[in-house]
Amino acid sequence: MNSIKINRIVLTLILLLLIVSIGNSQENNPLLKNIYKNDFKVGFSVGWNRHLKDTTIIKLVAKEYNVFTPGNALKWTRLVNEVGEYNFSQADEMIDFAEKNDLKVIGHTLIWYRQTPKWVFKDENGELASKELVMKRMEAHIKKVVGRYKGRIYAWDVVNEAVDSKGKKILRDCEYQKIFGNEEFIELAFKWAHEADPEAKLYYNDYACFMPDKRDHIFNLMKRLLDKGTPIDGIGMQSHYNVYTPSAYELRETFELFKTLGIEVNISELDMGMYSFYDRKANQFADSIPKEMLVVQAFGYAKLFKIYKEYSDIIDRVTFWGTTDKTSWRNRRPFKARVDYPLLFDRVGQKKPAYWAVSRPEDWYLPYESK
Ligand code: GLA
Repeated sequence: MNSIKINRIVLTLILLLLIVSIGNSQENNPLLKNIYKNDFKVGFSVGWNRHLKDTTIIKLVAKEYNVFTPGNALKWTRLVNEVGEYNFSQADEMIDFAEKNDLKVIGHTLIWYRQTPKWVFKDENGELASKELVMKRMEAHIKKVVGRYKGRIYAWDVVNEAVDSKGKKILRDCEYQKIFGNEEFIELAFKWAHEADPEAKLYYNDYACFMPDKRDHIFNLMKRLLDKGTPIDGIGMQSHYNVYTPSAYELRETFELFKTLGIEVNISELDMGMYSFYDRKANQFADSIPKEMLVVQAFGYAKLFKIYKEYSDIIDRVTFWGTTDKTSWRNRRPFKARVDYPLLFDRVGQKKPAYWAVSRPEDWYLPYESK
């Protein structure tokens, strides 16, 4: 054989080896959206438009997912100024981004007692507005925003956090509750959103859904509204968790109860902080996070995803609230110096143990669990 022939053979062999190894590495590291393609959609949110400019991180993260929630851009205060003029530029930018990256869009959120302009609840004398006036404003807002993105926004969080967390009272004390005195504002919001885009899925979204009082209040409210024919397609469980709670038992109880409503149950804002809710001053990981804690978190995420898979018949989507630990809202809360590590990607965009646990939850089991 002459040397040219030998060179050719060697080159071909190298090429074949390369192709095989690329194939293998993709197989060993498939994207989350592919891993869960038979279970549910997997998504993420971006809090602020300036975060879209960090293109290295955004590209890395966006390819993992197939659904996207603009974290703030569609909230009432972000769309409207003090005199009620609309500016859709930030929301448009978010939605364009999603479409360019093949991501379905979740609209978040139409009616929420927070991040709503103060004037919505005031009359011309600065007093609490009448129910009729607030209804007019809600209807106009919902129809304008849902109508604008009709066909481009796949599902809406129509009402966010209207239910009280503890005790007998169902509705949270807020302006809507003060003005309406009952749950009619929730019912109307769904009706108007449905009129504006009959194809869009419509959700009720809330936090701490696994806590018994809150869980039962949400269940009873949904049941009553559904019995009246309100167009509600599902519940969004925000799921801002930590490494200590909730337990597998609490979660299963919640899914079992919500399942009986016959609607979707989605995970809409998932993250898992390193501190207990009850230690409001803790900040022991301000400088760095021990590897052991990252492993504890990975087990926590594996537990969640095993349960989510069990309920994949009612779960349409699991969305992580953010991209990396660096830009997560869990930093700076409940106080400015708090540093947290709640997501799957670390501060420089490296995959954490939590990522690997989510990608193969069945490999992460605790000694007392059966495989
Ligand atoms: C709630 C809201 C979200 C967001 C988070 C904090 O969960 O639903 O829109 O504001 O708080 O980031």
